[in-house]
Amino acid sequence: MRVLVTGAGGMVGREVVEAFAGHEVVALDRAGLDVGDRATVLDVVGATAPDAIVHCAAMTAVDACETERDRAFLVNALGVRFVTEAARRTGAYLVTLSTDYVFDGTQTEPYHEWDTPNPTSVYGQSKLAGEFEVDLDCCVVRTSWVVGRFGANMVKTVLRLAAGDGALRFVDDQRGCPTVAADLAGMLRTFVDDRLTGTWHVTNQGAVSWFEFAGEVLRAAGADPARVEPISTAELDPPRPAPRPANSVLDNRALRLSGRPLLPDFRESLPALVRAVQ
Ligand SMILES: NC(=O)c1ccc[n+]([C@@H]2O[C@H](COP(=O)([O-])OP(=O)(O)OC[C@H]3O[C@@H](n4cnc5c(N)ncnc54)[C@H](OP(=O)(O)O)[C@@H]3O)[C@@H](O)[C@H]2O)c1
Repeated sequence: MRVLVTGAGGMVGREVVEAFAGHEVVALDRAGLDVGDRATVLDVVGATAPDAIVHCAAMTAVDACETERDRAFLVNALGVRFVTEAARRTGAYLVTLSTDYVFDGTQTEPYHEWDTPNPTSVYGQSKLAGEFEVDLDCCVVRTSWVVGRFGANMVKTVLRLAAGDGALRFVDDQRGCPTVAADLAGMLRTFVDDRLTGTWHVTNQGAVSWFEFAGEVLRAAGADPARVEPISTAELDPPRPAPRPANSVLDNRALRLSGRPLLPDFRESLPALVRAVQ
C-alpha cells in the first residue's frame, strides 16, 4: 500500500509516517505539498497515485486563526476540498483530521459524533467547514488536546516550566481528553486498513482540566504535582484571543458502539512520552 501523508512535518503527521512503517509512505510537509494550492495538490497526488491519504496538514495556531481568518479557511476548509478532489480523482481512500473545537463547550456531557457542532473560534469554524468538504466514502477523525514527541505541546511546556523556579498556573475550567500523537497515529493506521467512513471521535480516555493534566505530567516525570496551581480562564494574562470550549470532552461513541478498541487512558501513555521528550 502507498500512503500519502500531508502535514508530515507536524506533530501528528510525523507520528503517522512512523505508524505506517512497512508500507510505502510518501511524507509531504508544507514545502512538499501546500494544500491550499489546488493545482499543486492535484498534480502531486496524481503523480503519487496513493492508495490512501492521511490528511494531517492544517493551520493549527488557534489564536492566529482569529486574525488570519482567510488563511485559516484556505488551509483548513479549501485545503480539505482540494485533497478530497485529488483523492476522488485517484481513487484513494482519505482520512482527514478534525477537532474538539467544533463544539461550543456549553454541554455538560461529553460530546459524541452526532452532537451538533457550534464552533466559537475561527479555527473551529474553519475545521468544521473542512469536515463538510469530504466525500461520503472518506473519514473524519476528530481528536483533542494532542501531545507528542514532535513540535510544541503541553507536555513540553509543563516540563520546561517545571525546570525553572516560576509558578506553574494552568486553567481549571476547560476540560478535555489529552491524546498522545503516537496512539492516535496507530489508530489512524487501523482506520486506513479497514477503510472506515464517516465521523469518528478518537482520543485517549480520561477527561481532565489543563490544571489536572499539568499535574499528571509532573507525576509522570517523578515531580511534585502540587507545584501546579489552578487558575480560571478569566485570570489568564494576557487573555487568549480565541475562545476555547469549557467542555470539549469527546465521547468516542462510534468506536464503542462498533466494538472497536478504544485508545488507553492517557495516563498509561504519558510516562513513555515524558521519557522521550525529557
Ligand atoms: N494539536 C492538537 O491539539 C489538535 C487537536 C485536535 C485536532 N487536531 C488536528 O490534528 C491535525 C494535525 O495537527 P497537529 O497537531 O499535527 O498540528 P501541527 O503540528 O501544527 O501540524 C500541522 C502541519 O500542517 C502544516 N501546514 C500548515 N499549513 C499548510 C499548508 N498550507 N499546506 C501544507 N501543510 C501545511 C504545518 O506546517 P507549518 O508548521 O510549516 O505551518 C504543520 O507541519 C490537524 O488537522 C489539527 O487540526 C490537532
